Amino acid sequence: MVRCRCTPAEAAGVTRDPWHTQPHPQPAALVTIDSEPFVGETPLAAIQSWLTPNSLYYARNHYETPAIDISGWRLVVDGHTSSVLDLTYNDVLEMPRRAMPVTMECAGNNRMDLDPPVSGNRFQGGAVSTALWTGVSLADLLDRAGAGPGAVEVVFEGADLGSPEPSGAPSPYARSLPLEAARHPDMLLAYEMNGEPLPEDHGYPLRLVAPGWYGMASVKWLTRISLIDHPYEGFFQKERYVLDTGHGPPEPLARMLVKSLFSRPRHGQVFERCAPLEVAGLAWSGAGEIADVEISDDFGETWTCANLDGLFHDYTWRQWTAVWTPPCAGHHTLMARARDENGDAQPMKNRWNRLGYAVNGVQSVCVNVR
Ligand code: MTE
Repeated sequence: MVRCRCTPAEAAGVTRDPWHTQPHPQPAALVTIDSEPFVGETPLAAIQSWLTPNSLYYARNHYETPAIDISGWRLVVDGHTSSVLDLTYNDVLEMPRRAMPVTMECAGNNRMDLDPPVSGNRFQGGAVSTALWTGVSLADLLDRAGAGPGAVEVVFEGADLGSPEPSGAPSPYARSLPLEAARHPDMLLAYEMNGEPLPEDHGYPLRLVAPGWYGMASVKWLTRISLIDHPYEGFFQKERYVLDTGHGPPEPLARMLVKSLFSRPRHGQVFERCAPLEVAGLAWSGAGEIADVEISDDFGETWTCANLDGLFHDYTWRQWTAVWTPPCAGHHTLMARARDENGDAQPMKNRWNRLGYAVNGVQSVCVNVR
C-alpha cells in the first residue's frame, strides 16, 4: 500500500513550502543539484506552462560545459559513409529548417523516490521540461553523407571531455542510436531553443534532440557523427543508462516511460475550507499519446478521470486538470496516474534499480484543509 510521506509536522498542518501563501509562485532559477559540473532541476512550483522558459529548463551536464568558438567549430559526419561531411555553423544554418516541440526527461528524474536509496544526482521530479526546438533534420544530413554498406549504428559525440572513471583517460560524452532510429524523420539537430540560439548549458551551437527518448540520447555540443558497423560500447552506452534491477542482464534505456506530475496544488499547500479545488498537472510518454489521467484521494482504492486539455504535439507532455472537493478537513494525499495509448500505465510502486533510472511510479501531493 502506498502511504503519504509527509512528516508528522507537515501532516499536522505545518508546511515547509515557502510559497504556500502565494497563489502563483514563479521561482526564477533552477534548483541546483550539483555545481561542478552544473546540474539543475526545474522547481516543481514553476512547472505551470506548456513550454518551459530556457532559464527554467533543467540542465544535466556530465562534464564542464565546453567553451566553443563558433568560427572554429565544425560538425564532421564520417565512418561508414559514402562521403565525409565537414560542416561550418553557416552550412548547417543554410539547410532546410525544422521546428518541433519536444518534452525531454532525464532518465534519473525522481531518483530520490527509490527505496532503498541509490547514489546519483538527487532529482526530486523537476528533471523534465519542454521546449520548441529548431534546427535541421538528422535524416537530411545522413542522406547527404550516404550510409555505407554495413552501417548499423550512429554515434554522436559532444565537445565536452572528462573521465567517466577516476583512473581513465579523458574522452567525450558520446552515445549511439540504431541507424534506423537515427533516420526517423523527426530526429532533429537543433540550434535554437524556444526561438533563441541554444544556451551554452543546453548544447550550443548544435545538439541532437531525440523525441520520445530519455534525455541521455540527446547529445549536446555535437562535433562528430560517425556511422559504425558494430554496436557502440562507450561508457554512457554500456555502463550508464541501463536498467539494472539485479534480476537478469541490465537493459538499455530508450523511450520515456509514461508519467505524470502535479503542478497544482503544491505539496504542503493549506486550504481554508472544503470547497472544490482545481487540480492540474502534466503527463507524457515516449511511446505515444496520453490516453487518460486519473486522480485518487484514497491511496488508489478509487480513481476519477481528469480532463486532458491545452496544447499537445506528438512528442510533448499534455496538460490535465480535475476538480477535487476535499471530503473533510484534515490532511489529504492526492495521487495522479497517467496511461498512454498503448495501455501502459504508471505503476503504484517504483521499480527499484541500481542506478536509479526510469522512475515512473504514481506521484502524490499532500494538502491540508482547515
Ligand atoms: N550531451 C553531452 N555532450 N554531455 C552531457 O553531459 N547529458 C545528457 C544529454 N546530452 C549530456 C548530453 C543527459 S543525461 C540529459 S538528461 C540531457 O542531455 C539534458 O539536456 P539539458 O541539459 O539540455 O536539459
